[in-house]
Amino acid sequence: MSLSPVAAAPANAFTDAIRRRRTFAIISHPDAGKTTLTEKLLLFGGAIQLAGTVKARKSSRHATSDWMAIEKSRGISVASSVMQFEYDEHVINLLDTPGHQDFSEDTYRVLTAVDSALMVIDGGNGVEAQTIKLLEVCRLRDTPIITFMNKFDRESRDPTELLDEVESVLGIRCAPVTWPIGMGKRFRGVYHLLRDEVLVFAAGEETREQAVERIAGIGNPELDRRFPEEMPELREQVELLRGASHPFSLEEFLEGQQTPVFFGSAINNFGVRELLGALIDWAPSPRPRPTTGRTVMPEEEAFSGFVFKIQANMDPQHRDRVAFLRICSGHFKRGMKIRQLRLGRDIQVHNPITFLAQERELVEEAFAGDVIGLHNHGSIQIGDSFSQGEVLQFTGIPYFAPELFRRVRLRNPLKAKQLQKGLQQLAEEGATQVFKPLHGGDMILGAVGVLQFDVVAERLKTEYTVDAIFETVTVQTARWIQCADPKILAEFTRKHEEQLAEDAGNRLAYLAPSRVNLDLTMERWPQIVFHATREHA
Ligand code: G4P
Repeated sequence: MSLSPVAAAPANAFTDAIRRRRTFAIISHPDAGKTTLTEKLLLFGGAIQLAGTVKARKSSRHATSDWMAIEKSRGISVASSVMQFEYDEHVINLLDTPGHQDFSEDTYRVLTAVDSALMVIDGGNGVEAQTIKLLEVCRLRDTPIITFMNKFDRESRDPTELLDEVESVLGIRCAPVTWPIGMGKRFRGVYHLLRDEVLVFAAGEETREQAVERIAGIGNPELDRRFPEEMPELREQVELLRGASHPFSLEEFLEGQQTPVFFGSAINNFGVRELLGALIDWAPSPRPRPTTGRTVMPEEEAFSGFVFKIQANMDPQHRDRVAFLRICSGHFKRGMKIRQLRLGRDIQVHNPITFLAQERELVEEAFAGDVIGLHNHGSIQIGDSFSQGEVLQFTGIPYFAPELFRRVRLRNPLKAKQLQKGLQQLAEEGATQVFKPLHGGDMILGAVGVLQFDVVAERLKTEYTVDAIFETVTVQTARWIQCADPKILAEFTRKHEEQLAEDAGNRLAYLAPSRVNLDLTMERWPQIVFHATREHA
């Protein structure tokens, strides 16, 4: 066991480094403006100079071919999976989430690695399907959420109606912090309820942050002179809001019960600075993390963390992959020895990757909240915990029971070994789930979104030179099986061998041909637990 090779940094500098960190993700329905907003945040952070940089790598929402083409230039997509930048003396880690819902499993896992989330809603569309799902995941962990109502430079829904919708559909209380003055062609800006000032809207330039004109005091006659038509209504609305809406409560926000709401227009860079302000002033610094044994505090001296994502690297020929590790405690230093707990082996991290927006650079040190990339040739899995020796299994990193299944058949039977290797690795990456029937026969792939199969087929071909055919199979859903009594489990296995398979981690799963079958089987075997999700490791 490696005893702490690093003395912790002096207590104050160490705790200060943690206090200054914010790790968050943006959740939204496709097209709400996540990419645009990411870009503006990076502009503010000085991490990029030009708008369009992030956009260029945006994965396609519509076509597999585009997605594949973009993935081929993987260097960019690996680097921009995590974007670290500094803003106002804080270190911000923005974790990217895939836009397409077929890759939502990836997104769920990214959400386990953040301390807060920024929810972007298209003001014209209101709460949409993907946002509902993602917010549910955040609510499981009481992740604090900041809300941005985007695109107010367009005709939008009534702001009060939008708040009502968030409250009723998403079940989270809204505390408006800014309030829009008009919308669309008549969008004049926003009124900041806490600071009692109006921020005047001006269409922004795409290439730089814009200085926003501010007019203090809602009673200021200057406002009547500038916006004679809008001011009476605004004053009325604000009076109503002050009486009827929830005032912002930091405590409720941190408990995930209330969300501060901002209005603006990402593309015009309007309202973005206020979001960054909220992130810094209100969003939590790295939070304590649960493990199977105890809760790990970020200020603990010993290093610990877990892997929430694995991504193929730039060069498909070498099948080098990067494991994304979220640090939960301690002071990471380059060259440090850390223990991969599942395998009980120590690894010395000579070349960790950090993610300074667009570039990959060697990281010299990192703290709780930061993400480091570990080079990995297949031994690291999603959900793996690392420490300096203490057995800590971080919890809450989910696999979801797939809803779509395909049987994999080889065109060339001589390639069986490559197929197995390819599928095993793609499963470890979380690109698909793989089930090996107990009864023998071809492997069965499981996915949450159908696009995942196309990606797996394409990657098998290009990275493993395997030409595989995917066939439909009568499996409707899967459940991971657990039973305290080995005898009953053995009997169940004997009776249902045809429906049983092992996943890539050798866990037993029941592949149900139909929902009715699943319900009946569950009824007949009350001693067997059927899990719809399972945690990694
Ligand atoms: P996403 O990552 O959430 O999928 O959304 P993205 O930022 O790509 O934005 C989706 C579309 O909405 C883009 O238009 C983008 O320009 C536009 N958009 C984002 N923020 C605003 C805003 O504040 N106001 C207005 N009016 N539009 C906004 P597109 O036509 O799909 O793409 P593009 O041709 O502009 O690249």
